[in-house]
Order: sequence, then structure tokens, then C-alpha cells
Amino acid sequence: MDSLIRSARSADAEQIACVLAECFHPASGLGSLLQPWILASLHNELERRLARQPAYHSCLIALIDDTVVGTVEVAVRPLPEPWWLPSFIHRDRLVYVSNLAVRPSWRRRGIARDLLAESERTAQHWHQADIRLHVMADNAGALQLYRSLGYTIENSEREFPLIGARKHLLCKNLPAVVCGDA
Ligand SMILES: CC(C)(COP(=O)(O)OP(=O)(O)OC[C@H]1O[C@@H](n2cnc3c(N)ncnc32)[C@H](O)[C@@H]1OP(=O)(O)O)[C@@H](O)C(=O)NCCC(=O)NCCS
Repeated sequence: MDSLIRSARSADAEQIACVLAECFHPASGLGSLLQPWILASLHNELERRLARQPAYHSCLIALIDDTVVGTVEVAVRPLPEPWWLPSFIHRDRLVYVSNLAVRPSWRRRGIARDLLAESERTAQHWHQADIRLHVMADNAGALQLYRSLGYTIENSEREFPLIGARKHLLCKNLPAVVCGDA
């Protein structure tokens, strides 16, 4: 069954929050006690972002039978930097993909691939030459997905200096949009 990809609206925030919570903060053991709080804060954050409709920001969703099964955000913004770096340092703005998630029961059907393809088209329509994202080095499935789509490692760093999990910054060059392209 094919999914439909479209831009999210404020009314979708609750379903998107459920997908993000399920994919990035799966409930288990004592952690389940935090689940209502995680859901509420994801929901509030998303609702605010979607209502504001910032320029050069797009939240996409994949729907099957009107149910959100996957999501991704793409925006022109500075790279998210570790909390310990001073915030006054100038950072270039670039196209950055975040929050790519597909519900476990709908995985390996090409939904993430379709969401990324739409994100790349969005970046091209913003006349951007490349697109970037972070992935944890131990997230083998996601790394395989990005590699298969032509993303390459630009650099690798740790969450904290010398310790912590390693993550990669991936980059993909995008062809320029030719006038008249859909
Ligand atoms: C990573 C994730 C978004 C992939 O979603 P998906 O819809 O299953 O991905 P697709 O079906 O589009 O996969 C396309 C290709 O990527 C690769 N791939 C995707 N998931 C994979 C996995 N778990 N193991 C190995 N390869 C994988 C495969 O090459 C796959 O093609 P194939 O199914 O024909 O072999 C999903 O597993 C997820 O939500 N994970 C939790 C959140 C997360 O890690 N997000 C990424 C943060 S950087």
C-alpha cells in the first residue's frame, strides 16, 4: 500500500508526536512513567512550530489511510551544536534534516526513502546545493538508508568531548532545479 506524503498542519501535531515518541523514546520499564510527559512536550513543541509556519521550514508526513506513519523535518538553519559550545559563535545556515521517523510496523516499505526524496525536492526549490543531517554512528539501519541515497560522511564527532556516543554529519549534493521542473 502506497503512502501519501504531504506537508503537516497544526492538526497533525498529536499524531506526529506519537510517531516521534514511539521511534525515539520507546516506552520500556520505568521509562514508561515519563511517556505522558514526553508526548505532551513533543506535541506542544510541534504545534507551536506548525502554527508559526517559519520560512524555510517544512514538516512532512507520510499517511496511510489518513493515519500518520512517518515524518521528517527539513529547514534552513544553523547546525545544532552541542550544549557546551558557546551560543554566540556565528554558524552558517544550511539545509538540515531532522526527526526522520517511521512507525515500526510500517518500516522497510520505502517510506523513509520517499520522505527524504521530498525533503531533497524542497531543498532544491529553496535553491540549495546540498542537504545535511546527523546520524548516530551505531544506527546501522539509518546509515544504510542514507548511504543508499548518496549521503556521505562529512565529519564525525562525539556527543561530549572525548566521551559519549559518536555521531556522523552526512551531506548530499543536490542537482540544481531546471526551470519548468515540477
Ligand atoms: C531509519 C528509519 C527512518 C527507516 O525507515 P524505513 O521507512 O523503514 O526505511 P525505508 O523502507 O525507506 O528503507 C530504504 C532502504 O534503507 C535501508 N534500510 C532502512 N532500514 C534499515 C535497517 N533497519 N537495516 C538495514 N537497512 C535499512 C535499506 O537499504 C532499505 O531498502 P530495502 O528495504 O529495499 O533493503 C526507521 O527505521 C526509523 O524510524 N528508525 C527510528 C528513528 C531513526 O533512527 N531515525 C533516523 C535518525 S538519523
